Amino acid sequence: MEESPKTVRASAKSERLNRARRQHSDRMQQFAEYLEGKKRGETAAEAIVIAGVERSMEPRKKLFSEIPSIEGERIVIDRVVDADADALRDLIDNPHAQRYLPTYLFEKQCDDVHEVIRMLYEDLFSNKESLILAIRIKETGELAGLAEFYGLRDSLHKVSVGCRLRERWWGNGIATEATRLMVDYLYGETDIEIITASTMVENKGSAHVLEKADFIRTARGVEEDWGFPEPTIVDKWFC
Ligand SMILES: CC(C)(COP(=O)(O)OP(=O)(O)OC[C@H]1O[C@@H](n2cnc3c(N)ncnc32)[C@H](O)[C@@H]1OP(=O)(O)O)[C@@H](O)C(=O)NCCC(=O)NCCS
Repeated sequence: MEESPKTVRASAKSERLNRARRQHSDRMQQFAEYLEGKKRGETAAEAIVIAGVERSMEPRKKLFSEIPSIEGERIVIDRVVDADADALRDLIDNPHAQRYLPTYLFEKQCDDVHEVIRMLYEDLFSNKESLILAIRIKETGELAGLAEFYGLRDSLHKVSVGCRLRERWWGNGIATEATRLMVDYLYGETDIEIITASTMVENKGSAHVLEKADFIRTARGVEEDWGFPEPTIVDKWFC
């Protein structure tokens, strides 16, 4: 009997979640074994094993050590460039797309979109404040939205993610694909161990996207400082 789309999605979800958890616990296990071996003072044969472990423990890439290009099935997530100015303007000027806008996304306060693009990397990226990338339609190169990595806690290997799309691209599964690609990049290529996200409680669309990308809601309706005079009431997510 053919499985229902819901069953297929549920099993893909648990597979992705398990993979992320396995990666995390493998690294923890390797680290514990490595420390034990060091303590005991190893023989030559054991040293080879340790060398293998040591190799597998080579420091992973730091987030913010590069501006990545992350390729998916239908989209590529990469640097915003000057040629994206009109599409970015379209996103910035659309009040629907900016409805759940945290203040760290400063675009609206700046009239010159080229200046915004410059600041994304010379300012926000250089200060490790946030890494904002284009979500691009692979076939045409068109900017469909922005993917954001922000709130890095380097010592905890923790970062938050989010994305927003131009309205004309809503409802095509793009945010889900983008979020999954961001998670795969972080867990697959960088030293990030904890990925979080926050959504305003009324933002059902983003909540749905996060659920589909295997995030787990860890808190409902809690206060978070988004830089507004009053705290923002958000749900918190973990992957
Ligand atoms: C929210 C947003 C990112 C969703 O992007 P998207 O590419 O349209 O989302 P997807 O197509 O991947 O949708 C994933 C799921 O969420 C559902 N969904 C999307 N938007 C929704 C909404 N507004 N309300 C309820 N469900 C929604 C989709 O139906 C889909 O579910 P399904 O596969 O079970 O049908 C996009 O609408 C957007 O950028 N909105 C404005 C800005 C914003 O809110 N950004 C987030 C700030 S934290």
